[in-house]
Amino acid sequence: MKEMPDSPPVKPRTQQPEHPEFWDKRFSEGTTPWNAGGVPSALRSFVQAESTQAPGLANRRMLVPGCGHAWEAAWLAEQGMNVTALDFSATAVAEAARTLGTWSGTLLQADFFSFPPTAPFDLVYERAFLCALPRRIWPDYGARMYQLMAPRGRLIGFFFFSDEPKGPPFGIQPEVLDALLAPWFKREADLPVTDSIPVFSGKERWQVWRRRD
Ligand SMILES: C[S@@+](CC[C@H](N)C(=O)[O-])C[C@H]1O[C@@H](n2cnc3c(N)ncnc32)[C@H](O)[C@@H]1O
Repeated sequence: MKEMPDSPPVKPRTQQPEHPEFWDKRFSEGTTPWNAGGVPSALRSFVQAESTQAPGLANRRMLVPGCGHAWEAAWLAEQGMNVTALDFSATAVAEAARTLGTWSGTLLQADFFSFPPTAPFDLVYERAFLCALPRRIWPDYGARMYQLMAPRGRLIGFFFFSDEPKGPPFGIQPEVLDALLAPWFKREADLPVTDSIPVFSGKERWQVWRRRD
């Protein structure tokens, strides 16, 4: 009788970044090299520019998916935005709750791809979220962002460019990012970043993408 080849061993969920257990482990061990511990200057500049324009920031609905420690969510809420911070890792949500304290926004433990929003978002902030997702999940990212956003809504934030095959962080190529987002969004800004933390240094750019209607 012919012997069947061994099937590859199944990795535990703590080694698969599409599962919350992967992130739970890293947050509980304090292995979080992506943690900026503050608000990046490109986000501050964007919000400053927006707040000088009518109708300003008040009550704009903003989503922060994969919020991690939620430094930006806390600050955005302080600027007057209606912020929803979301993460599927219970340990990340516990860290976020510590950062946020008593705040005006909503903190959810939920999966970005399946949570039911109460209303469309005007803005979604990306930082170290797309690059946390295994590449085979990427095709769902653009469609889901489009689905979550109001007409003319914007996806703003940092995109990590690298051809290193292993991750996370899973780097993207510019043309792959364009192919992912261009069917749903039109890019309005693309700028270098000057205050990256070491893990992203020289490899991230600030971009703004507007939803096509
Ligand atoms: C690399 S960390 C970045 C955290 C934060 N954005 C930051 O910049 O510090 C990626 C985060 O995305 C979360 N995450 C990954 N996949 C997710 C999903 N499908 N839904 C919600 N959160 C997810 C992880 O739990 C983790 O907290």
